[in-house]
Order: sequence, then C-alpha cells, then structure tokens
Amino acid sequence: MRDPTETNHDETAAEENAQDEAGPIISALTNMLACNDLPDPAPADPMPLLLAWFEDARKSERYEDFNAMTLATATPGGLPSARIVLCKAIELQTPALVFYTSYTSRKGEELESNPHAAAVFHWPHARRQARIEGRVRQTSPQESDAYFKTRPLLSRIGAAASRQSAAIASRRDLIAEAVRTARRTMAGRELERPDNWGGYRIVPDRVELWSARTGRLHDRVLWSRSPESTWSARRLSA
Ligand SMILES: Cc1cc2nc3c(=O)[nH]c(=O)nc-3n(C[C@H](O)[C@H](O)[C@H](O)COP(=O)(O)O)c2cc1C
Repeated sequence: MRDPTETNHDETAAEENAQDEAGPIISALTNMLACNDLPDPAPADPMPLLLAWFEDARKSERYEDFNAMTLATATPGGLPSARIVLCKAIELQTPALVFYTSYTSRKGEELESNPHAAAVFHWPHARRQARIEGRVRQTSPQESDAYFKTRPLLSRIGAAASRQSAAIASRRDLIAEAVRTARRTMAGRELERPDNWGGYRIVPDRVELWSARTGRLHDRVLWSRSPESTWSARRLSA
C-alpha cells in the first residue's frame, strides 16, 4: 500500500519545482506590460503613431527602402493582386498615404474599376507591422507634375518609355524605346510627365499597428472610422 505522507511530500516537491520554473515565465509575461510601443490606452488617432514608426524606420538607416509597402488591389470581382510600391508621404490632416505609379498598369486598372486598396509595411528592425486599408483616389495632375519633376532623369526617362505591365516583345525593345526617349530629351525637348503616370492617395478607413512580443503575445491595435468620422480604437488579441 502507498504511504500517503510520502505521496504528499512528492506532490509538494513537484509543485515547488513547477513554481520555480514558472517564476521566470510569469515575470517575462508580466514584464511585457511595461513595454508601451503601442500605448495603452491607444491614442485616438493612429496617423501620428504610424508616421512616427515610418520616420523611425527612415532614421534607423537599416533599409534601402524603409518606405516600401506591399500594396494589394483587387478586381471588381474580388480577385486580389499585390506588389511593392514606395510610400512617398504619410499625411496627417486629411489622413492619407501617397504613392506613384502608372495609371494603366495592372494595379492602375484594378484601382480604376475598384478604388480600394490595402497596404502593409514590415519594419523588422523594430519588429513592427502596419496595415492600412481604404479608398483610393488619384492625386491632381499638378501634384503629379510637381513630383515627377523631382525624380532623377533616368527614372523620368524610364517612366516615359515604359508601358508598365504591358507585354513586350523583348527587353531589347524596351531599352531601345528608353534610348530614343533619352535622345529626344538630350536634344532639348522637355520631358513631360506621361498622362498615364501619377500619384494615388489611400485615404484610410482602417489602420492596424502590430508590435511583436515574446511568446507570440503580440500587441495589436485596430483603428477604424467611417468616411468623415473620427477614429475608434480596439485592442486585438494576437
Ligand atoms: C522596392 C520596390 C519598390 C517599388 N516601387 C514602386 C513604385 O513606387 N511604383 C511602382 O509603380 N512600382 C514600384 N515597384 C514595382 C512594383 O512592385 C510592380 O512590379 C509594378 O508596379 C507593376 O505592378 P502591377 O503590374 O501589379 O501594376 C517597386 C518594386 C520594388 C521591389
């Protein structure tokens, strides 16, 4: 027969052991509350925090393209496509993210027929992700002109010579077209912004900021708003 005293002793020792082992884990979990990369309670407006993360990525000097974001678009039927573009501005007053591209590219055509987009940044140096969703509208021609003029000459030549996303017979043909454009430009002809090239603004109605934590208990806050209304924030489970 088992000696009940002995069993109790074993159980107590096992419990003490478990407590010793749990100590560091429990500390690690509770210490997570001290990190306020995403403040708690969350700020009313996500845009200043998104801009701060964007600027932090720029200043980290860890990326050639700190402003690279995955941009998802979809056909009216809901078939998605995604690619990287560079975010050229994050605006606070009327919240928006600005990028430039070809209006006749695949993404341009999808945005023409379904003006909604989603964008995602990943900044591994800070273990952060930012997700943005919203309606999209083109920047004004004047704004696109102004931005086009700031681009390096080679990029302007490339934009003028290429019909982004169109099938081409060969890469040689594309380069030959760029050479012709360069020759015309060097001969003194003004290199105008192509009509089919310009900017878009994503006007966000959802922003989610995600900050990694140990034990996969990441911190997430989702802000949403209806057009013309103010933001409301919800903290999400990881
Ligand atoms: C780092 C990086 C930055 C890019 N930036 C842009 C950009 O700002 N605008 C753009 O039109 N394409 C950019 N591209 C190319 C796009 O990913 C894509 O190939 C192109 O826009 C055609 O996409 P589409 O056929 O889906 O329209 C970039 C690609 C990479 C890898």
